[in-house]
Amino acid sequence: MTIPAYKNPALTVSERIEDLLGRMTLKEKAGQLNQWFNLGPEHYDMVRKGEIGSDLLAGSPTAGNSPQERIFARRYNEVQKIAVTESRLGIPLIFGRDVIHGYRTVAPIPLGMAAAWSPELVQAANTIAAREARADGVHWAFSPMLDIARDPRWGRVAEGFGEDPFLAGKLAAAAVRGFQGNDQDAIPERFPVDRVVACAKHFVGYGAAEGGRDYNTTEITRQTLHNVYLATFKAAIQSGCGTVMSAFHDIGGIPLSAHRYLLTEVLKEQWGFGGFVVSDWGAVWELTNHGIAADAGHAAELGCGAGVDMDMCSMVYLNNLPDLVQSGKFSEERLDDAVRRVLRIKFALGLFESPYVDADASHAVHLLPESLAVMRRLAADSMVLLKNNGVLPLRADHLTICLGGPLADRRKELFGCWTIDGRDEEVTTLKEAITGRLGAETRLHHYELVDDAVKLARASDVMILAIGESEGRSGEDNCTTTIDLPAGQEALVESARRMAIPIVAVVFGGRPLNLTRVMDWADAVLFAWHPGITGGLGVTDILFGDVNPSGRLPITFPRSTGQIPLYYNHRSTGRPLPRNSRRHSRYIDALDSPLFPFGFGLSYTTFTYGNLCATADPQIPEIVVTAQVTNTGDRAGTTVAQCYVRDVVASVARPVRELKGFERVFLEAGQSKTILFRLGPQEVSYLDDNGHEVLEPGRFQVWVGGDSNADLGADFEITPDGRWGVIDKGE
Ligand code: GLC
Repeated sequence: MTIPAYKNPALTVSERIEDLLGRMTLKEKAGQLNQWFNLGPEHYDMVRKGEIGSDLLAGSPTAGNSPQERIFARRYNEVQKIAVTESRLGIPLIFGRDVIHGYRTVAPIPLGMAAAWSPELVQAANTIAAREARADGVHWAFSPMLDIARDPRWGRVAEGFGEDPFLAGKLAAAAVRGFQGNDQDAIPERFPVDRVVACAKHFVGYGAAEGGRDYNTTEITRQTLHNVYLATFKAAIQSGCGTVMSAFHDIGGIPLSAHRYLLTEVLKEQWGFGGFVVSDWGAVWELTNHGIAADAGHAAELGCGAGVDMDMCSMVYLNNLPDLVQSGKFSEERLDDAVRRVLRIKFALGLFESPYVDADASHAVHLLPESLAVMRRLAADSMVLLKNNGVLPLRADHLTICLGGPLADRRKELFGCWTIDGRDEEVTTLKEAITGRLGAETRLHHYELVDDAVKLARASDVMILAIGESEGRSGEDNCTTTIDLPAGQEALVESARRMAIPIVAVVFGGRPLNLTRVMDWADAVLFAWHPGITGGLGVTDILFGDVNPSGRLPITFPRSTGQIPLYYNHRSTGRPLPRNSRRHSRYIDALDSPLFPFGFGLSYTTFTYGNLCATADPQIPEIVVTAQVTNTGDRAGTTVAQCYVRDVVASVARPVRELKGFERVFLEAGQSKTILFRLGPQEVSYLDDNGHEVLEPGRFQVWVGGDSNADLGADFEITPDGRWGVIDKGE
């Protein structure tokens, strides 16, 4: 018996898709665009009828807040078997899951990953996540989350790569390659069998929610949309990302899941995206809540018409599209386009040839020592040393340590938000990690657990206070009105200060926190984010100097909630911020500057930047900027050299500076290295309201240094006839 063409792997994917499409009924087509969650026996009949195309492996719309939801590979093989052997066409289901920062070997939260400024480590971490997830039967990770965020009250700031589109764009590309295993810039014809298809989310501008309140309205100009919020998604698509998730919110009254300009004109037509768009949970049906759809049928028409290909968990497409097409109210051509996009990814994942998973495969892939080592390195490199008066690094022997604070011996708190496959019992707590690190003649006392703690603390050499947020204070639907530390923690640090021993504050968190007073009272402050399964070990590696801290802030730390939004790549305004004049954009009751600027971080050694030199070849549209970075301390270390550019005069006001290059630089004590940044049209142009590149003549400034306050600079120009030249070559 000849097999139908769509089941013949010898044919091209396009041939197989067209053959299959030609066999499908309207209901079966809508079924491929219908995702439901945690499929069980009660859904098997719909699966048999081809009315469900995807299984979302999550128990609730806020899976990230639901503790320890498990994957059951055998159960998913069972429902897959029904789809493949008991439905008319045997189209396999695609299984999707939130694999946000690691899977079983839980990585630091993405905001923490970003603080390592290492695309290599982000790719490595997501490669591990992909292999562990695929071994469990997951085909599709709803990750990376690429929402630029400038408001740390928003709980989901934890899930993204921070405030800067350039840094976040580089990490977006690395994350996609880690998940998908592709090295070319297109959706793979066939994904490696141990990888998953990635999902750039939440398209687009979700982080601009007013008031930092999740799901809230946004007002984003086209200029800001193209130059800030779309940049990370463009980087992901240009790296071959196979799917995109449309967001819940509206921009200026148009909900993203009905935003034809962004979903079709920009994403699919302008950028050439060939994968598929899935809505966020129920977002198509929510068009009725937004007040732009009169009913579910209208929502289906608007959502699919705008470019949402698959409906996540509202059944709106399944229940309405067939009739809409039948009645001529909706184009079957558009329906077919959506189905083609979904089938393309299913074929590329090899699901028609290998729909099932070996339910025992995960044991050979999960929690490998080399995976734990990668996450431990990433955790340590993500941590940002904010203050150190010399108390760090600690010696590991002949020392009495008093360990206190609410997070000193906690497990799931170190996971952070959106951890649904990590297991608490597999986390090394900070107390366990320090205990394991201590050498001879060393005592560790857990402050809360001993009598007469004050007397004991006074007898100690150093107090380590583990403070900050639990995992439940960030992530989806976990927004706060303040970025102050949780109640009582400042008082804890202040009371510890009265014991007249050095204090090391280790701060865990999913967002920038107001550390203004902690900075006054502690001798050292290490911001550890939510560092994942090896987080306690990563902190210990830093505290005892096994790793020299190299983390740099991927997001501005305000002095107070009142300063929000506060970000480095802001526009000048007509009254920019010199510190010495009134009537400029400021507050009368606070300093203008942030507590810590974007890109900031300390080391156990020191670095200087000098000898900046900008050169140009009139024949080439490029400025080459070099600078010398020197390790002026007494131990080896890594710094992150950063290059910022300003377009001084343009047709629209441009930011006072923008990151356009960075490089992690390792230097032995006393060593110097010349670093080089190339600035071409891509680095000095901007996008107009239609997303087209604009390169205008005029003067530009460039700076190189260790954070966004870098002041080692040079000026260059592009003449009206297009020649690139240096005006002031720098110091
Ligand atoms: C949630 C989140 C999204 C997640 C999806 C599936 O509501 O907004 O990030 O991927 O639903 O769990």
